[in-house]
Parts: sequence; structure tokens; C-alpha cells
Amino acid sequence: MIEVFEAIADVRAHLDRARRDGRTVGLVPTMGALHEGHASLVRRAAEACDVVCVTVFVNPLQFGEPEDLDSYPRTLATDILLADENGATVVFAPTVQEMYGDGTVTTVSVAGPLTEVLEGASRPGHFDGVATVVTKLFAIAGPCRAYFGEKDYQQLAIVRRMAADLSLPVEVIGCPTVRDDDGLALSSRNVRLSPEERRAAPVLHRALGAGADCVRSGATDPGVVVDAMTAAVAGEPLIALDYAAVVDASTFATPAPLHGDLRLLVAARLGKTRLIDNLGVTVSDGTHRRGK
Ligand code: PAF
Repeated sequence: MIEVFEAIADVRAHLDRARRDGRTVGLVPTMGALHEGHASLVRRAAEACDVVCVTVFVNPLQFGEPEDLDSYPRTLATDILLADENGATVVFAPTVQEMYGDGTVTTVSVAGPLTEVLEGASRPGHFDGVATVVTKLFAIAGPCRAYFGEKDYQQLAIVRRMAADLSLPVEVIGCPTVRDDDGLALSSRNVRLSPEERRAAPVLHRALGAGADCVRSGATDPGVVVDAMTAAVAGEPLIALDYAAVVDASTFATPAPLHGDLRLLVAARLGKTRLIDNLGVTVSDGTHRRGK
């Protein structure tokens, strides 16, 4: 039977006890509204860890617009069921008061291109909010493996870097993006798309494929790869591209000429909904490999 905790002290005691009994802990941080993408993270954690804690917390620090925070879906009862069905043993669902008390004074900020470009530029302060809450969740959970989706690739790179820089006792594990049959990456935001927007949305994945094909066919000029992705989206009138980019997969700088492990990333608006997606491609010694 899955156990649900709201208090930091209670979940911490539970996970400390598990480790004292020789059991390993897996952590799956989420903001709830769980879908098959989250389920795949929980299953991955359950394969490797004895105790799997899914955290469900809609973190106010990482939202820009108050309306976004207010309208973010909150579905705790079904989240608990999905977590349970996929092998979680614990859900930690704190209130804002429990996490931040009467206000947050200490925050965590990762400097440099990793947080300044792309999502960092489009959503000022967002990654400080993510870094702060993830640091708190890691501090609450203690030594563990933590599972994050590659769907939010820039977030994953930041969390990896932060955990390494702060010597946190957490192994950060990135898991492949789960997609619908037509290529659209699963996201809690997809439910906000109108039927027409939903039909248009897979063009983002096709644009990433066009960029990856361009790299695989030998392009080393980042501008050429970005143009290929932009052109693929331009044919879809319902989509307003925010950015298309190709960056180094760990530093988020753009190497020119392109080489090494690269990440192609896009963000776009469909009506009121903003979607992001990404794909990996590696250039090494003249060979090109497409990632997930
Ligand atoms: O990816 C998310 O759902 C959130 O950004 C995270 C990592 C749970 C932090 O609030």
C-alpha cells in the first residue's frame, strides 16, 4: 500500500529508515498531473530502487505569470493511483507553507549559458525556482537516485550540473522522452491544446528530425541546422516558433563548427499553450548518430 506524506519530517524519517534497513531510494520529482511520461520515470526508478518516492508539488517559485500557477492542473488523487500502479511506494505532497514557510529567503541559482539561454531567456527566474526546489527535495530525500525526463532537457542539464557542483549525494538519471504515436512529446500541457492545435503540434518533432537529418548529412554550420528546423515549422500556420537551436548537450554553448554530443531544441506557442521538445545527435570523427 502506497504511503502519502505531507510533512517534510515524516517523509525524511521514512526514507532514512529505509536506508538504515539497507534499502535503496529512488526519487521522482514532479509537479503532479501525472501522465505516461511520468509513469515511465516511476517504472524506471522501481526497476532499480527498493523504495520509490514520487514528489507532487506545484512549485510557485518556477512560475512567471500568476495565472499559469493558478491554472496548473492539480490532480493529487489520480496522481497517487498512477504512482502506485507503476511501482512507487511513497508520495510526498507538501503544501506551499510546508515547503517555503512564510517566504523563501535562500535560493539556488546556476550561472552561465546553461540557465541564460533558451528557456532561461524566455522564462526569467524559472530555473532559479527549479534549482531551489530540486535542492530542497534532494535535501529532504537524502542519498538517492533521482529520475528526470529528457523532455525538459535544459532542466535536466541544470540539475545534473547543480548536483555535481554542490556535491549532493544524488545520482541524477535522465530518461527518454515518451511520445504519442505521431511523435508529440507527452506533456501536462497537451490537454490544453484545441483539436486543431493538437493536430498541428507534431510538426515540432518533425522539425527536430529535419535538424538531425541536416547534421547527419554533414552540416556543421549551426545556422544551417537552425534554418532547417525553422523551415519545417514555418509550414504550420497555427504554430509560432519561439526558438530553434542546436547546442552542446552539456554546456548549452553552440559549438561552431558543430561537433560532439549535440542537442536540438525547439519551443513554440500554439494558441495559449507553449510547448518544448528536443532531440540528441552526436557528431564524432565524421560519423553522425541520432539520439532520442
Ligand atoms: O519538471 C518538473 O515537473 C519540475 O520542474 C520539477 C523538476 C518537479 C521541479 O518543480
